[in-house]
Amino acid sequence: MQTSFLKYANTEVPRYTSYPTAVQFSAEIDQIQYRNWLQELPQSEPLSLYVHIPFCEQMCWYCGCHTNIVTGYQRIGEYLADLACEVTLVAAAMSEHQGPVAELHFGGGSPSLLSGEDFYALVAKLRTQFSFSSQTKIAVEIDPRTMNAAKAAAYAKASVTRVSLGVQDFNLHVQQKINRIQPPEMVRQVINWLKTAGIFAINFDLIYGLPTQSLDDIRRTIDLALEMQPDRFAVFGYAHVPWFKKHQQLIVPEDLPDTALRLQQADLVAELLTNAGYIRVGFDHYARADDALGLASTNSQVRRNFQGYTDDACDVLIGFGASSISALPQGYVQNDPQMGKWRQQVRAGYLPVVRGVGLRQDDKLRRAAIMQVLSQGQLDMAALCRSFDLDAAALDDALPKLAPLAQDGLLTLSNRRLQVTPDGIRFLRNIAACFDSYWQPAQKRHCLAV
Ligand SMILES: C[S@@+](CC[C@H](N)C(=O)[O-])C[C@H]1O[C@@H](n2cnc3c(N)ncnc32)[C@H](O)[C@@H]1O
Ligand code: SF4
Repeated sequence: MQTSFLKYANTEVPRYTSYPTAVQFSAEIDQIQYRNWLQELPQSEPLSLYVHIPFCEQMCWYCGCHTNIVTGYQRIGEYLADLACEVTLVAAAMSEHQGPVAELHFGGGSPSLLSGEDFYALVAKLRTQFSFSSQTKIAVEIDPRTMNAAKAAAYAKASVTRVSLGVQDFNLHVQQKINRIQPPEMVRQVINWLKTAGIFAINFDLIYGLPTQSLDDIRRTIDLALEMQPDRFAVFGYAHVPWFKKHQQLIVPEDLPDTALRLQQADLVAELLTNAGYIRVGFDHYARADDALGLASTNSQVRRNFQGYTDDACDVLIGFGASSISALPQGYVQNDPQMGKWRQQVRAGYLPVVRGVGLRQDDKLRRAAIMQVLSQGQLDMAALCRSFDLDAAALDDALPKLAPLAQDGLLTLSNRRLQVTPDGIRFLRNIAACFDSYWQPAQKRHCLAV
C-alpha cells in the first residue's frame, strides 16, 4: 500500500450527506423561512419523507446517531402523539404545494422499537395528510434485537418495501466491546419473519474499524452476511468522536484499529463484496446488480442524501421528528434535536425548526460538483459550470487542491475533466472536499476519510 494513502485516510473530511454540511447551519434560518420555502415548492414536485424515531433500548457504545435510551413504552407513545401533530402542521404549511410521495423512510434510533400497531397507525396518519400511491416506496431501519413476527406483519400491512438491518459485526468478542450482542441466528430469524410477511428487499449495515476487530473478523462477518443474501450493504468506517458522543468514551482507544488496518479492512470489504457480485456504489455502499441502487449505479443515477447513497430521485426531502433534517431546493433546515424543545414548538403550533442554511448559487454549483464526484467518480467541471450559466472556469479554484491528489494517483485531470482512479474510490470524500468552499482541513469536526 502506498504510504501517501495513509495521509488521506487520516484526514478528517465531511461525509457530504448535504452541502453545505451541518457545520454551516445557523439560527438565521427559522421556521418562518421554512414555511416560506414550503409554500414556494412547485405543486407537482415529488416528495421524499423522513421520520426520525430517536429511541433505543440500549446504547451501542460506538453509536453516532441522535437517539435516547428508553426503558418503557410511555415516552415513545408521547413522542408518536407529538409526531402526528407535526405531520399535520407541515402538511397544512404546504397544503397547496404538495406533490406525490415517492419515498418514505423511517430512521433513528430504532424505528423497530415501535409496536406493530403504532407503526401502522403512523403510516396511516401520513397517508391521510400526504399523497401516497402504490408506487410509494417505504423503508424502515431495524435493530434486529427489537424485532418479532408481529412487527414484520405490520410492516407488510403498511406496505413497507425495504428494510435495513443494523448488523455491524457478527463476532462475539467485537460485539462485547461495543455493547451489542446479536448472534447471527437472530438476524437469520428476522429475515425469515420479514420474508414470510412478504418483505424481500433487505439491506445490511456493517461497520469496520471497531474495537479489536481484525481482518479475519471482517472476513467472517462478510461470509456469514453473504449466506443471508441481502440486496445491499452499507459499510461504514467507525466514526470515533468521543468529544461529541460521550458514551464512545467507553471504547478503549487502544482497542481501535490504526489507520493502516482500517484501510486494509475497507479494502477487504470491497474485495469480498465485489467478488461476490455486488456493485460498489460510491465509497461505502454495495448493491446487487438487479437491485434498484445497483441499477441506478449502472445508469449513473445514484444520488446522495442523509441516508447515504440512494436511488431516491426527489429534490424535496421533508423531515419529521426531533433532530431530523429537511432538504429543499432553497436550502436545508433542521428540527430541534432536544426532544423537549421540539415538543414545545410542535405543541405551540410552530414548525420545530432550530437551524438551517440557505443555498447561494455558488453552493448549488459546488453541491452538484461534490455529489457528482461522490456518486459517479467523474466530473466534467466545464460542462457543469456551463449548465449553471457560468464561465467554464468557475470551479478552477479546485484545480490546485486536486493536483497533489492527481500526483498521488487518486484521479486524472485533463481539460477540466476529472476521473477518479480505482485507487481513488476509497478517498472520494477527500477529492470532493477540494470543491468545498467552507471546509478547513485543520478543523476537528468530521470523521476520518476511511
Ligand atoms: C440508526 S442506525 C440503524 C438502525 C438501528 N438503530 C440499529 O443500529 O440497528 C444507523 C446505522 O449507523 C451506523 N452507525 C452508527 N453509529 C456509527 C458510527 N459512530 N460510525 C459509523 N457508523 C455508525 C450503524 O451501522 C447503524 O446501523
Ligand atoms: S441501536 Fe442503532 S441507533 Fe440505537 S444505539 Fe445502537 S447503533 Fe445507535
